[in-house]
Amino acid sequence: MQRRSTRAFLSNAVDRKRIETILLHARQAPSGANLQPGFFHVLTGDALTHLTAALSQAVADKRKPVAQYSYFPPELSAVLKSRQHDAGFALYEALGIGRRDTKARREQFTRNYRFFDAPVGIVVTIDRDMGKGCFMDLGMALMNLFSSAQAQGLGTSGIGALANHADVVHEALSLPSDQLVVCGIALGFADEDHPVNTVRTAREPLELFTTFHGFE
Ligand SMILES: Cc1cc2nc3c(=O)[nH]c(=O)nc-3n(C[C@H](O)[C@H](O)[C@H](O)COP(=O)(O)O)c2cc1C
Repeated sequence: MQRRSTRAFLSNAVDRKRIETILLHARQAPSGANLQPGFFHVLTGDALTHLTAALSQAVADKRKPVAQYSYFPPELSAVLKSRQHDAGFALYEALGIGRRDTKARREQFTRNYRFFDAPVGIVVTIDRDMGKGCFMDLGMALMNLFSSAQAQGLGTSGIGALANHADVVHEALSLPSDQLVVCGIALGFADEDHPVNTVRTAREPLELFTTFHGFE
């Protein structure tokens, strides 16, 4: 209940041992047949700068997005659209960015490709031919990663936007061709004073997403 996405970080480095612990916790997640799908490519310093520079250049060049899997359904239903809208509204309101300020909105979006200036960026990949169930397993590992980081006083944010430029990530990290870029993760100590970190998202009430059968 305390975890939330962190989109502004202090420049303090994160100790490698601490990252290793977080990744071991991530990997402790259950998975179908214990396949343990997914790989974590952990970047900091020059390695992270190299990737973010390549991504920022791709965005500046308006390079055509190349995603290797579909994250969202082709058409969002009204319910999904409203959830997406509320999350976006909370984000831009916290930053004081108006509805029509497309320049400021674009700038915030490009911060995805700098891992929100976190000291550590993680690129998450999975074997290209894995099925939907394996994506579910990897999701559980990601949740463990977020929770473990939280327990150690570190902030995180998933960065699905990274997958929009999977080709750039492949090139910058020389990833093997059998890997598919799933998402990025920003990791570091949260800048608690930054307005973007005051964003709070809501969840719908239990009865809207649950049915109980056979109870009193
Ligand atoms: C896999 C994944 C990808 C995400 N991608 C992005 C992203 O590209 N940009 C962003 O600002 N937030 C991203 N988020 C954060 C979600 O917007 C956020 O989790 C959601 O709005 C709920 O807010 P909360 O994390 O603060 O509870 C991502 C989250 C996950 C789990």
